[in-house]
Amino acid sequence: MVPNISSLSSYILEYQRSCANPTGYWAYVADTFYWRRKYDEVLRWDFEKPEIAWYVNGKLNITENIFERQIYYRRKQVALYWEPNDPGQPARSLTYQELFEATQQFANVLIAQGVRKGDRVAIYMPMVPELVVAMLACARIGAVHSVIFAGFSAQSLAERINDAGARVLITADGGYRGEKTIPIKAIADEAMESTECVERAIVLRRTGESVPMKAGRDYWWHDLKKNAPLVHEAVEVDAEDPLYILYTSGSTGKPKGLVHTTAGYMVYTAHTFRNVFQYEEGDVYFCSADIGWVTGHSYLVYGPLLNGATNVMFEGVPTWPDAGRYWQIIDKYRVNQFYTAPTAIRALMALGMEWLNGKDLGSLKVLGTVGEPINEEAWHWYHDHIGKNKCPIVDTWWQTETGGIMISPLAGIIPTKPSYATLPFVGIQPAIVDDNGNELTGNSVEGNLAIKFPWPGMARTIWGDHERFRHTYFGRFANLYFTGDGVKRDEDGYYRILGRVDDVINVSGHRLGTAEIENAINEHPLVVESAVVAFPHPVKGQGIYAFAICNEFSTGGEAGIRQSVVKTVERIIGPFARPDKVLVVSGLPKTRSGKIMRRILRKIALGEGDDFGDTTTLLDPAVVDEIVTKARAMEAEAG
Ligand code: WTA
Repeated sequence: MVPNISSLSSYILEYQRSCANPTGYWAYVADTFYWRRKYDEVLRWDFEKPEIAWYVNGKLNITENIFERQIYYRRKQVALYWEPNDPGQPARSLTYQELFEATQQFANVLIAQGVRKGDRVAIYMPMVPELVVAMLACARIGAVHSVIFAGFSAQSLAERINDAGARVLITADGGYRGEKTIPIKAIADEAMESTECVERAIVLRRTGESVPMKAGRDYWWHDLKKNAPLVHEAVEVDAEDPLYILYTSGSTGKPKGLVHTTAGYMVYTAHTFRNVFQYEEGDVYFCSADIGWVTGHSYLVYGPLLNGATNVMFEGVPTWPDAGRYWQIIDKYRVNQFYTAPTAIRALMALGMEWLNGKDLGSLKVLGTVGEPINEEAWHWYHDHIGKNKCPIVDTWWQTETGGIMISPLAGIIPTKPSYATLPFVGIQPAIVDDNGNELTGNSVEGNLAIKFPWPGMARTIWGDHERFRHTYFGRFANLYFTGDGVKRDEDGYYRILGRVDDVINVSGHRLGTAEIENAINEHPLVVESAVVAFPHPVKGQGIYAFAICNEFSTGGEAGIRQSVVKTVERIIGPFARPDKVLVVSGLPKTRSGKIMRRILRKIALGEGDDFGDTTTLLDPAVVDEIVTKARAMEAEAG
């Protein structure tokens, strides 16, 4: 098992050691894993190119580290408790042995379908155990999985499948989320119409609704499984072979397929999981994230399973059938560590205390949050009412790109401060830099958050676009990885994440690019141009405010347009990207060179309508007054 950091003094010591001798430190952690062939060199790196390789020439398989390495003493231990959307339906659980067999069997299914090492497999599934099986089976045979969140539209799915060049799509007939049934197969069918690379779709039966199956392309999971053997010897892969591609949003419209490789990611997710959550043998851990996002990859699948943890996986939503659903699950499974997003906490807090009636929550030891800044009010509510003043909160800052947690308390070890991610994990060397790249040293400083030295879990490239990887992350500041976040280091040296400094926004913990939403809005036949900004939202953290120039309004007038713009975004990206406000305008504040001055739009979205600073560079300053007037009228109309 990975080493445990169990006191503040050992954290301080290990932190110093990990920075003074990073390769020595990460070799020490890596040596607790099972390698088919040991690496020749711990790290090769150059942030200019960039080129990052950990555990050079090491050979392994990550599933051997989940299963073979620990199966003899974990056969009967539960790996996955699965809680269905509807509490009235039967729950399931899989022991390590059962998950192991399911993984091997599905690995054989994939092989029989012609999937080979290095092939990409797209996965578009609801939150059911077979999703985990599908991912692990890919890893077992050295195929690269690319999970696409099941809330994405057909168009977004197709775009990601095409970018990854996936040969196989693993999907389901449908899925349940609260009271809704999601027609997953129908969306997948639509997506496959605009993909040329997919040769096979493997369809899991979840809802039992009848769905069309295209002959020669679509096969049922349960049919393919019938004759597949339960034993599959893991395929040996290189330390730097890709484990998965995961798409995330950036400042331009096109999503980026971040590539995580095998060995470094394995070492880093396992080490952070064990130490941040202080997971102990026998604990039950519950991460509420969807596997479609990185939190689910690192802290529902890989990190916990590599530590032999018992996981709770939940198919549904926190507010259905009522707002006590998470608390009921925590009591049912006697959960010890609970990891969720601030948006869920704020939503549940807003629904009132009555949902906590009759809930014990006494099993909880550690609470975690991720994905966006947590405001003090939500932090205290979580701490007092869920943690009953006895559970440390780990406010974990990290990103799809970082693979694992970067700045966070270690539970019960690093003293917490509301809304602070506190201190860097071992081996992580943050730097705060001004806009010119000068490092701001010492305490009580604020600036851009960058990282000075590689860590094993970092993404290695953007699939098919290494140049974009270079300029996005390493082109901004020389010899530093740029995170895109603003940060403050306080008088105690504690880090507080201030939010994105680029055009990425964070809506209910879902990461979106403003350009991506604008592109979707512009697909609306009546929209000429649009601009999207974020505004503070009491539950979602950030809300989406869209300004759209429309040529003409047909039936329904402005209200009709607003609605159909929202529908367009739902159709093109997915329902989670739906704008909260759409304002129809006749122009946008632009400079003479044609650049939209978003600063002004942000102020308008905030409801701050008077002082816009210097507007002399605007092509047409009068447009600002018009937008302000219209925005006020819309607010008044909404009450
Ligand atoms: C934000 C999610 C404040 C941040 C794991 C980052 C946070 C982006 C925190 C990455 C936190 C994540 N406090 N902000 N604890 N955690 N963020 O790629 O802006 O979906 O850059 O990864 O979420 O989002 P992503």
